[in-house]
Amino acid sequence: MTPDANGHVRDMLRSLPSLKGPFPPVDFSTFPDTPQQAFLDWLGDAIAGGIKEPHAMTLSTVDADGRADARMLILKNVDERGWHFATHIDSPKGRQLLANPESALTFYWAQLGRQVRIRGRAVPLPDRECAADFLERPMSARVIAMASMQSQPLHPAELADRLHDAQSLFDKNPHHVLSAWKVMAVAPRSAEFWQGASDRNHKRLCYSASDDGAGWVKAVLCA
Ligand SMILES: Cc1cc2nc3c(=O)[nH]c(=O)nc-3n(C[C@H](O)[C@H](O)[C@H](O)COP(=O)(O)O)c2cc1C
Repeated sequence: MTPDANGHVRDMLRSLPSLKGPFPPVDFSTFPDTPQQAFLDWLGDAIAGGIKEPHAMTLSTVDADGRADARMLILKNVDERGWHFATHIDSPKGRQLLANPESALTFYWAQLGRQVRIRGRAVPLPDRECAADFLERPMSARVIAMASMQSQPLHPAELADRLHDAQSLFDKNPHHVLSAWKVMAVAPRSAEFWQGASDRNHKRLCYSASDDGAGWVKAVLCA
């Protein structure tokens, strides 16, 4: 397929189905008090529905020039502190978040017609939890994390040297922890649950942190 001036790409895109359903009905009046519980309920539906990689999400950040950036990550946990992911902090996303923790997460489960959007600040979890996450990773993943310089050009020969050095280090000390490996939690300030409908009468529920920070205000919005 090539870009062309005859509208073929446009026609092809318009012929692709989107949000065709049928999708499950939604009753936001029965939703739980916290966005974490609402998310876990929907994640359970996604897993039960056989959705591939339901824990894959887009993390959006802002760079030092105020420009948006985004990439896919894997969700590692959800608790009262927020939505967790793990990464090499010495990476573009890590540097962006340390300078400006404002971030957003987006999940999309196509077969259910559901989208979840989380907005909040990303904060690193205590070192002990980061170390535990690193040590739970397969050894091959630890070696690569140690050797890689995320998102920086690396000559294949240099990468081979770095992999060799990292492997030697782990051979000597299998419990070595990469201090740059961080688990971060996006602490939600707002969370939106969006249910698509084949008749386009989409619905969404927004949780906003209450002013005193003690609870959540729920609002059903126009889709
Ligand atoms: C499905 C999927 C899951 C991913 N999971 C992670 C992850 O959990 N942690 C991570 O650091 N990168 C993960 N990546 C790679 C990131 O998308 C990204 O390419 C990398 O972290 C560099 O991002 P940055 O240059 O914005 O820092 C994943 C990519 C895909 C496609």
